[in-house]
Amino acid sequence: SVIRAGSYSEELVKTAKTIASPGRGILAIDESNATCGKRLASIGLDNTEANRQAYRQLLLTTPGLGQYISGSILFEETLYQSTTDGKKMVDCLREQNIVPGIKVDKARIHSLLLLESNTINFFSTVYHNSYLFSLSFTGFSPPSRRTVVSIPCGPSALAVKEAAWGLARYAAISQDNGLVPIVEPEILLDGDHSIDTTLEVAERVWAEVFHYLAENNVLFEGILLKPSMVTPGADHKEKASPETIAKYTLTMLKRRVPPAVPGIMFLSGGQSEMEATLNLHAMNQSPNPWHVSFSYARALQNSVLKAWQGLPENVEAGQKALLTRAKANSLAQLGKYSA
Ligand code: 13P
Repeated sequence: SVIRAGSYSEELVKTAKTIASPGRGILAIDESNATCGKRLASIGLDNTEANRQAYRQLLLTTPGLGQYISGSILFEETLYQSTTDGKKMVDCLREQNIVPGIKVDKARIHSLLLLESNTINFFSTVYHNSYLFSLSFTGFSPPSRRTVVSIPCGPSALAVKEAAWGLARYAAISQDNGLVPIVEPEILLDGDHSIDTTLEVAERVWAEVFHYLAENNVLFEGILLKPSMVTPGADHKEKASPETIAKYTLTMLKRRVPPAVPGIMFLSGGQSEMEATLNLHAMNQSPNPWHVSFSYARALQNSVLKAWQGLPENVEAGQKALLTRAKANSLAQLGKYSA
């Protein structure tokens, strides 16, 4: 085979392909407990373990979810959590052929805060290698690691290099342990910059990420990417249409991402549910070298929270809302969504 021999190569390729399969994408529910608390607060619920359990149980036991969702990224708490009737949350996923994944970020640190005057624009993440080891024994794949890059005031060359190197080392260590890494340099929407500025920064970031992925001998067929779409900054005076966002984003990806990579799973990054669906649909109007899909958290969860309101009698309504968003994004992945 042309895939170079490595202890886990075949498994990595197979898992990545399973996740990047037609009409399916990733449900991200890897909010830390603090962030999950913010979601719960938006519907007036306290941030207790029981409420987080009820919410995650609602999401992960949604009947029919596996038709649209191929993978789900969990937070550590959910990895060890059971439903109220004692079933492991991860088993709920596996029953629906959804690959469970895990966020390996331990904390967000201001890694370059004071190194240069204009470098207050980059957050790195700490993660534990031992965590990746133990996960590989429990059949987990993929892990996900997010590194944040911000545009206002930067990012400096040093910030980009640091972000890229950290992600590449994490990817190599994941693959050494049989896990498909989700590589996520999130370029934040914050700022009033134009879409051309975002394009320029995204090109710099992804060039560096692939340089170091190659240097670290990462098997491209066994990774997934989680990029931000190329859009104007959230405070820019003009909004861009889905067609413009698709054109800029695909231009950037075609310039920077080899076709060996099986899947591009976008984050929603603060876009509304509808924007995230329409943008994905616009990107799938002509064939792409990779599977172009979603790994949304907020853009799959917002209407679920509204429908649920923390009430047991609304669980079904919440699950219905999730299926509606999941199906819309599934159709968008196939380029067949219509509002
Ligand atoms: P959003 O879709 O809310 O940006 O979250 C994606 C993500 O990075 C979660 O892992």
